[in-house]
Amino acid sequence: MKDTSPAAIHLSDYAPPPWLVDRVHLTFRLNPGATRVRSRIRFRPNPDAAPGQPLRLDGEGLTPITASIDGTPVTAAPDATGLTIPAADLPAGAFDWQAEVEIAPDANTALEGLYVSRGMFCTQCEAEGFRRITWYPDRPDVMAPFRVRIESDLPVLLSNGNPAGAGPGWAEWDDPHPKPSYLFALVAGDLVATSDRFTTAQGRDVALNIWVRKGDEHRTAYAMDALKRSMRWDEEVYGRAYDLDVFNIVAVDDFNMGAMENKGLNIFNARYVLADPASATDTDFANIERIIAHEYFHNWTGNRITCRDWFQLSLKEGLTVYRDQQFMADMRSAPVQRIADVLTLRARQFREDAGPLAHPVQPASYVEINNFYTATVYEKGAELIRMLHLLVGDDGYRAALELYFDRHDGDAATIDDWVRVFEDATGRDLTQFRRWYAQAGTPRLRVTEDWDGARYTLTLAQHTPPTPGQPDKAPLHIPVAVGLIGPDGAELAPTRVLELTGAEASFTFDDLRARPLASVLRGVSAPVIVEHNLTSEDRAALLAHDTDPVARWQAGHDLARDILHAMVTENARPGPDYTDALARLLSDDTLDPAFRAFALGLPGEETLAQGLHEAGHTPDPTAIHAAREALARQMAEALEPPLARLFAEMDTPGPYSPDATAAGRRALRLRALSLLSRRDGGARARALFASADNMTEALGAWAALLQIGAGAEETATFYRRWQGDRLVLDKWFAQQIVNAPAERATAAAESLAAHPDFDPKNPNRFRAVVGALAMNPAGFHHPSGAGYRFVADWLIRLDALNPQAAARQSTAFETWARYDPARRALIRTELDRIRAHPRLSRDMGEMVGRMLDSA
Ligand code: PHE
Ligand code: ZN
Repeated sequence: MKDTSPAAIHLSDYAPPPWLVDRVHLTFRLNPGATRVRSRIRFRPNPDAAPGQPLRLDGEGLTPITASIDGTPVTAAPDATGLTIPAADLPAGAFDWQAEVEIAPDANTALEGLYVSRGMFCTQCEAEGFRRITWYPDRPDVMAPFRVRIESDLPVLLSNGNPAGAGPGWAEWDDPHPKPSYLFALVAGDLVATSDRFTTAQGRDVALNIWVRKGDEHRTAYAMDALKRSMRWDEEVYGRAYDLDVFNIVAVDDFNMGAMENKGLNIFNARYVLADPASATDTDFANIERIIAHEYFHNWTGNRITCRDWFQLSLKEGLTVYRDQQFMADMRSAPVQRIADVLTLRARQFREDAGPLAHPVQPASYVEINNFYTATVYEKGAELIRMLHLLVGDDGYRAALELYFDRHDGDAATIDDWVRVFEDATGRDLTQFRRWYAQAGTPRLRVTEDWDGARYTLTLAQHTPPTPGQPDKAPLHIPVAVGLIGPDGAELAPTRVLELTGAEASFTFDDLRARPLASVLRGVSAPVIVEHNLTSEDRAALLAHDTDPVARWQAGHDLARDILHAMVTENARPGPDYTDALARLLSDDTLDPAFRAFALGLPGEETLAQGLHEAGHTPDPTAIHAAREALARQMAEALEPPLARLFAEMDTPGPYSPDATAAGRRALRLRALSLLSRRDGGARARALFASADNMTEALGAWAALLQIGAGAEETATFYRRWQGDRLVLDKWFAQQIVNAPAERATAAAESLAAHPDFDPKNPNRFRAVVGALAMNPAGFHHPSGAGYRFVADWLIRLDALNPQAAARQSTAFETWARYDPARRALIRTELDRIRAHPRLSRDMGEMVGRMLDSA
């Protein structure tokens, strides 16, 4: 096979840009098929780079019209990825580059650069989309103020910064804050705004606008409220205020990711802005709150302090995820938020870390940077900051962050700069801690205990399995929060943070009256897998008495996992321990309903497969599904009276409110309903579906019916009611596939992919069908291989339209090496088929190559 693989980019090759930019002027004459972009860019030599270097401008898919330097036409010819002006053709000092190019936004299905989404122009420039708009040194360490003029007949014309004038058919914007090109944005469309104001702690009066299509105005209130709370929170907790006169948010229907933090002009996937009680679930409201906050927080952690290069991506993403998690913990219940975050971490990041796509939080190389917007960079990156915070304490964290903002405001910084502020502010040596950024894989933490009648010894040992390209792992600096519980359930020792730095260490606890029960890794103090051989009695005791709510939930989760593993591997029949423990917990009305809802949730099928694999078994998705169903039936039977009581009592009278308390009650009610439906044939769910005045309960009721093989009538009713609503229709597509019985799941996906409302060009809709099948593990992994074929067919088709979205979805296959030979062979065939496809994108080529070659 001839090597057509594009070259990898290496962190170790970083060199500063030879030319810096003082100022950028852009003029857009918008036209769907032929937009003209004129640029005037002031360059000057970088005093910190070697002199006499050529000027390299990135540019892809641009039709050149004119180009000149200080008025002299440029003769250099562009190649496929840009334009190089030899040093000999450049003035000695600063100069003006001027160019005009033509681009075709309506032909842009990749949704990178400038594109059209249902009549509205919009941009997406992170990571390397700006080069599809005009010639530019498209790298984040080149920062400049931008002045933008937009010419178009569309009524609303937006760009970054403050408004600088407008008239019929034009508008100008000025962004005084130097920024990298990936934060550039432009929007033009027939939009309406919901507006509000915010006065910053420094007295700046800021105009807030959320721009949406006509007809969506009534769905913006929650996002606006979340924005104002985010702005206040960042002032109060991090001392960071907003720095422009306007803050614009735009909702767009076609968007590859969740949202984008462009300076002063955040662009959102509509699903993370628009919500009202009838059409959005509690989960949607929570996601909106979190993502609005996340993008707003980027204004300081990402925009004012940006990344030197894309290997530093977690500098902004890990930190901003940590900040959004802290915000959510403050807005809602902290332990419940932590449980939700831990579930995401394990389901997405541990999964990634255990397979062929494992990479460090700071990767050492990449082929396509779009492939590194991963759970590892985001979620594990946030965990590393959580650990730093725990290690240096609240005061140390505050001092380190103050130093970070003082020292690096206006910089394109590195992860090393970040760790250094913790060292400089607290005096701690974090040399070993830095390994967390460079070493991939999820560490195993083995816990063993010794009790001599008076003294208790806890021994912690760590070990990280090999990952692709990293066969040998060094020990990490792991903070392990531990508490001790007595036999009577009382706390014997409060939480203490033990620091494990070597391969193994022992810690002693003296003066204990009785043998304690250790509650280890409280709050999930490190992103590790705990191997602690506890009996089911011990786990049940922790579930009943642990004073740390996250560890308490974890004990129940582990108990359920142990039972399910034994059901799968030994055909064991579950005893009553689990349901007895749950019965006590469910009837404890002092416990937060949201917490009880989590406690009642069984580990997911994907999590179980992962756990079996970690324990040395070959997971069988069919058997896992059957075991989980059997345990759910047993729970429904054993817990019917308390579940029925909770279903009746956890209603939320009065008008719907998305607040955490009401959402927690609904979550518990719907968990109960899902189990009860296995007993009442769906009677309660049918009634709730018919009477619900909010999407959370309507969708929960319908899903409960689908899970018991019923709900056909509700499926039709749901479609009739929501036919014209893109966001709700995404739910209609996804639910039918996620909840389909395994043997019918692929057929369901196939027929929905043939539905007139299916549109693979819309990333949300594509995910609602192709992504949904991967979220039904027993269906996706059905031994026929039909699920694999379906997903591979669509990946190939989508790759030609939207490589970034297609490559992202290819992670459906990232776990392939853990399965049995028959399934492995089937998946390999599909991955080989994708790889052999001519004109495969760089994005997909890299993903499939990594999946096939490192396993
Ligand atoms: N930077 C965005 C965020 O995390 C994510 C994103 C990446 C969006 C790339 C679009 C493209 O908030
Ligand atoms: Zn982000």
